[in-house]
Amino acid sequence: MLVLFFLVSLAHAFYANSKHIYELTPKSFDDVVYKTNHTSVVEFYAPWCGYCQQFRSHYIKAAKASSDVAQYAAVNCDLPENKKLCNEYRIEGFPTVLVFRPPKWTGKVTKENGHSSEIYRGERVASKLTEFVKGRVKNYVKRLNARNVAGFVAPKDKPRVLLLTSKTSISPMFKALAIDFLGSMEFGYLTVTDEIRSEVEKYVDVKELPQIVVIDRDGSFHRYEGPTERTAIAEFLGNYGEAEDGETSPRGAFLKGLKKGLKKGLYKSFRDFKKSRSAKSKSAKNAKDEL
Ligand SMILES: *[C@@H]1O[C@H](CO)[C@@H](O)[C@H](O)[C@H]1NC(C)=O
Repeated sequence: MLVLFFLVSLAHAFYANSKHIYELTPKSFDDVVYKTNHTSVVEFYAPWCGYCQQFRSHYIKAAKASSDVAQYAAVNCDLPENKKLCNEYRIEGFPTVLVFRPPKWTGKVTKENGHSSEIYRGERVASKLTEFVKGRVKNYVKRLNARNVAGFVAPKDKPRVLLLTSKTSISPMFKALAIDFLGSMEFGYLTVTDEIRSEVEKYVDVKELPQIVVIDRDGSFHRYEGPTERTAIAEFLGNYGEAEDGETSPRGAFLKGLKKGLKKGLYKSFRDFKKSRSAKSKSAKNAKDEL
């Protein structure tokens, strides 16, 4: 009976098998949507609704295309446990796509849930939604030029990440990386044109574009040479700074557990998860001290 119920409820969850979309409940909603500096997209749906069924593959496609710049989630409003959540967000029709943006982090403690939300009213097509979401990613990447690059690469108390590029706009994925390392590393990008190239090369070696360079606290340069992919780059940056978010962070591990459903019931919230992590690392440290 219980197994049957489980199967039925899974069949009704549109995105249980989609790698990039979290099916949320009142238990997980705040942890996923509010305890982050990333932008979140949440689709409120009902499995029986025709427009939702039509939109489903587009939503999966959009999440696949831009899960490296924003979080994608869904709430099944047909589930009794989710009814309150759907009322709270005044969901009147299905599907309703809400985009949540965190407040700009200024280095000070801000009150929680200061997020803004807006309804996505564009075409319900993957490419259009992706484009919209990319435009809603907070920017913590400083735009540099030939004059201020010297100050950016000088020794400082925080490591810096510099993107040298031929493009004039900041890539959304690079913005997302800056959010992953918020508070730990400073991010800048510099459009290297032929006119300023020799000026820039006085301070940093431009080999090829695009190029990511870490400037450590002591002013030493470390060039990234791996694939252009958020997690791979984050792993490299993790050698110099600490990720607060993204797949390589404790929060990333929490989200992965949430997605898999394996850890269901194990951690009630992200805070619980963090507590257990620090307890684990403490006991690991104690074990090490004993050697
Ligand atoms: C944003 O990032 C900062 C620095 O890592 C962190 O202190 C703050 O709690 C984050 N904000 C949210 C809403 O998670």
